Amino acid sequence: MTSDLRSFDGLGFFLYRSASAPGLTEAGLSRILATARSRNQKLGLTGCLHYEDGMFFQWLEGPSSSLVQILDAISADDRHDRVEILDQGPLEHRQFQDWRMRFSDRNSGSLTDWFARSDNSTVDRSHYNNGVVSFLLSLAT
Ligand SMILES: Cc1cc2nc3c(=O)[nH]c(=O)nc-3n(C[C@H](O)[C@H](O)[C@H](O)COP(=O)(O)O)c2cc1C
Repeated sequence: MTSDLRSFDGLGFFLYRSASAPGLTEAGLSRILATARSRNQKLGLTGCLHYEDGMFFQWLEGPSSSLVQILDAISADDRHDRVEILDQGPLEHRQFQDWRMRFSDRNSGSLTDWFARSDNSTVDRSHYNNGVVSFLLSLAT
């Protein structure tokens, strides 16, 4: 369920996608993760970060007040841009309770490949189909 993080107390989540800044190195990525993990521990946040083809996908979960705080910091970070919230809202149980920030990249698994292979059981078909059409139309302009 989508609802603004400021509209409720307690456990919540947000999911976003962004584009990494040009020239991001392995060392730069390690620094992002080190900061994320130490600060997330202090704020009671857990989650995961996936990096693929210059795009970040991040899920963060924890107290809604901590999420609001971290979302402001993340949005202002110039190591990425085009931060787009895909979903946010309250959460019953943590999905990544053992992870201050799980990291994955193409070596662990490809989101693009996963989408290409996914079927009705894993993806809402109408959203998926609309996405494919929008993508094809964008190539034709
Ligand atoms: C892709 C990406 C993901 C990030 N994830 C987190 C995170 O999960 N937790 C966190 O504290 N900071 C994360 N950061 C770093 C924050 O943007 C910010 O630099 C850090 O929290 C320090 O904030 P401050 O400068 O306001 O103290 C991330 C940055 C990027 C570019």
